[in-house]
Amino acid sequence: MSSQSERVLACHILASLLQQRGSLASLLTAETLARAQSPALLQELCFGVCRWYPRLQFYLGFLLTKPLRNKDLDVQCLLLVGLYQLLFMRIPDHACVNECVAAADTLGKPWAKGLINAVLREAQRKQSQLPDLAERDYSAWYAHPDWLLNRVKTDWPTRYRDILDGNNQRAPMTLRVNQRKATRAECLELFASHGVAATAGELTPHSLYLAQPMDTAVLPGFAEGWVSVQDESSQLVAILVPLSPGLRVLDACAAPGGKTCALLEAEPTLQMLALDNEARRLPRIQQNLDRLGLQAIIQCADITQAGMEALGLFDRILLDVPCSATGVIRRHPDIKLLRSPAEVESLVGKQRALIDAAWPLLAPGGYLLYSTCSLLKTENTEQIAYLLRVYPDALHIPLAIPGAIKCENGMQLLPTVASTDGFFYALLRKQPQPE
Ligand SMILES: C[S@@+](CC[C@H](N)C(=O)[O-])C[C@H]1O[C@@H](n2cnc3c(N)ncnc32)[C@H](O)[C@@H]1O
Repeated sequence: MSSQSERVLACHILASLLQQRGSLASLLTAETLARAQSPALLQELCFGVCRWYPRLQFYLGFLLTKPLRNKDLDVQCLLLVGLYQLLFMRIPDHACVNECVAAADTLGKPWAKGLINAVLREAQRKQSQLPDLAERDYSAWYAHPDWLLNRVKTDWPTRYRDILDGNNQRAPMTLRVNQRKATRAECLELFASHGVAATAGELTPHSLYLAQPMDTAVLPGFAEGWVSVQDESSQLVAILVPLSPGLRVLDACAAPGGKTCALLEAEPTLQMLALDNEARRLPRIQQNLDRLGLQAIIQCADITQAGMEALGLFDRILLDVPCSATGVIRRHPDIKLLRSPAEVESLVGKQRALIDAAWPLLAPGGYLLYSTCSLLKTENTEQIAYLLRVYPDALHIPLAIPGAIKCENGMQLLPTVASTDGFFYALLRKQPQPE
């Protein structure tokens, strides 16, 4: 298979994304990557085009003399791939243009060859002029859809530029060392002996940053359960939930189990119930527990359905709700193409339902940690305001997180350049019952 196929594969994946038929995670599977001669190039093209989509689309609008027809979405995607290679990668111009032109044949659209050649050659000629044009258009310059840019600007009027720049960076590969199996120093030693460069994180005690991302299949110690892949912002969960031996804990939105495992590594005697309503996501929790040598009960259930009181009361509840994921755009740049304001509204409703379902399951005197990887106040501090308004037995417990921003109800980590993922945490306590 020639390297041309990466462009064609990328084109199909991008077209599916733009038709809302899947995400990068569901489309760029190990199987699809294996079909490419260079999986790294396929990955780079898909992630890169998503990361810069609003700007590339703006350039395309300028370079095309008339818009493409809906049925030629594949040609549009091929042009975006070509523009990304020309303007953001170090692929020689002639190779990029020739290969994109040739890819039109593979797509079964030989008529588009002339068009692709003309657009990409025009982009070459105007290469120095294009960024000046983009600079005059906020959405193109910051490479975020208008609605999202405006939401971030409204919620973070003094920080939004830093956030948008941070969202356009590549995220580092961060690991959590399993303190039940090794210390961070032992892990660094193991990595050094295999020539893997890493440094300790500063926010959490068991974090490591790899100098270069690598496949976990070849990462020393991964199969043996020494490390897991997890951003420092998520690792914080084990510090923020007040833990002690034997507590009954509910992880109400647990899959794939990243935070369940972080909590159990910190306190393996917890009686942990890891619950999630998506059956297909549950095996990942068990795989993680098995690899790390941890134990929990896993249950497939929708916590908002009737009858959940049968689960009994819990001393601690982690409510890591589904959210817009606007804090992890650097890891999932397809969010720029996939999310919509309507979807955020629907998520806000689901989060409220989850709060209403979880609160009655918390024992008096117990703690509930609410978390999201969202930057939007409507999913974060406003949800906690709702909880405090509706449940008079709820008490907001202030948290201290270095580098995080104190909100009205909770703490927000922002995904600015060289920072962690964007994350929100709020800790609530249920009033203890009077003696
Ligand atoms: C942000 S993810 C959780 C990530 C997980 N805590 C981790 O750290 O690996 C949110 C999860 O909530 C689950 N979920 C959504 N609605 C739910 C419901 N009503 N009941 C239980 N789980 C739900 C989703 O299936 C999804 O796996």
